[in-house]
Amino acid sequence: MGLAVVSQADLGLLNTFGISEHAERLVAVESDGQLRDALALARQHDWPVTLLGGGSNMVLAGPVPGLTVAMRSRGRRVLERSADSVLIEAEAGENWHQLVGWTLDHGFHGLENLSLIPGTLGAAPVQNIGAYGVELCEVFDSLEALDRGSGQLCRLDRSACRFAYRDSLFKQQPGRFVILRVRLRLGTCPQPRLDYAPLAAAWQATGLRRPDSRVISELVCRIRRSKLPDPVQLGNAGSFFKNPLLPAGQARALLLRWPAMPHYPQADGSIKLAAGWLIEQAGWKGHCQGRVGVHREQALVLVNYGGARGAEVMTLARAIQQDVAEKFGVELEMEPQLIGG
Ligand code: EPU
Repeated sequence: MGLAVVSQADLGLLNTFGISEHAERLVAVESDGQLRDALALARQHDWPVTLLGGGSNMVLAGPVPGLTVAMRSRGRRVLERSADSVLIEAEAGENWHQLVGWTLDHGFHGLENLSLIPGTLGAAPVQNIGAYGVELCEVFDSLEALDRGSGQLCRLDRSACRFAYRDSLFKQQPGRFVILRVRLRLGTCPQPRLDYAPLAAAWQATGLRRPDSRVISELVCRIRRSKLPDPVQLGNAGSFFKNPLLPAGQARALLLRWPAMPHYPQADGSIKLAAGWLIEQAGWKGHCQGRVGVHREQALVLVNYGGARGAEVMTLARAIQQDVAEKFGVELEMEPQLIGG
C-alpha cells in the first residue's frame, strides 16, 4: 500500500498554536489513492480519523486517538479562460498563501484581500475564510470531495456548500466529506475591493491611480503583520472567537449604552459586533495567564507564549466568554476546532 504511518507523532510543529500533543498514528497523503488507502486502513482497525490541513484553525486538547491524516496533495492548474475570467483548480494540500501568490503571478485577480491567511486550500471552504472585506465564497466555483458516507466522489457547487460567515456544510456535517480539490473563478482584470476602511486608507496613501492587485496584496500583508502574531514566533490560531451576530434589537440596546461600539449591519437584518472590541472593553487585551494570553495588538487572538497545553488555552477562553457574557449579554462562539483529549 505504501503508506508511511508514524506512531505517537508529535503534532507540535503541525499546528500553528504550537501545542505539543501526540497523534496516536499519523499519515501524510498526497493523492486520492493514498487517501482512500488511509481511510480503508482506519476502517479495518476501527480507528477514528482526524483530518489535518495546515493546522491553523485548531486547538489540541489532548492526544489524538486513531489515525490523523495530513492532506499533502499538491498541484494547481487553469481549467478555462474566458474574456474576463478564469477557472482555476488546485489540490487540497496546497498552501493557501502560496496559491494566492501563484494567481497574482498569472495576472488573476480576486484573492489579494485574502493574502497571508495561514492554512491549506482544502481547509479554506470549511470555515469560508474571509478577511478585509472578501470571503472565499465570493470567488468559489465548486469543489470535489470524497463523501465518507457513500465512499463516492462528489462535486459540490457554491449553494451546496451552504456558505455563511465562518460557516459551511463542512462545519455543519463534520467528518462527512474530505475536500480533495477546489475550483475558484477569478478575474482577468483588477477589481479592487476596498470596503475595509484601513485598507482603503493604505491604498490612498500609495498615491497610485491604477488598480494593482499585487500592491493590494502587499498592503493586506502589512496590515495583517501589524495586528496578527506570526505563528512561527508566537503560537496562535488567528481569531479565536467569531464576531457575534445579534438580532437588531439586542444590538441597538447595546449601542445606546456603548455608542462607540463597532457594528456591521448584515443583509438579513442582524448586526455583527466586533468580538475583539468586546474583549478589549472587558479588560482582557494583553492579559497573560501563565503560558497563554490575549494578544496585545488584537484581543480576538489567543496566544501560546511557549509550551502551553490546550487545557490552558480553553480555561482562558472560557473565562473570557463568561466575562463578556456577564458584561454585554453576548455569547462568544469559539472559532477553531477543538481536537483530541
Ligand atoms: N477591535 C478592538 N480591539 C481589538 C480588536 C479589534 O477594539 O483588540 C475593533 C477594531 O478597532 C475594529 C473592530 O474591532 O473597529 C474590528 O477589528 P478588525 O478590523 O481588526 O477585525 P476583526 O473583526 O477583529 C475580522 C476577522 C479576521 C480578519 C479581520 C479583517 C473574524 C472572527 N475575524 O477580525 O480574521 O482578518 O476581520 O477582515 O471574523 C481569522 O479569522 O483568523 C482572522 C484573523
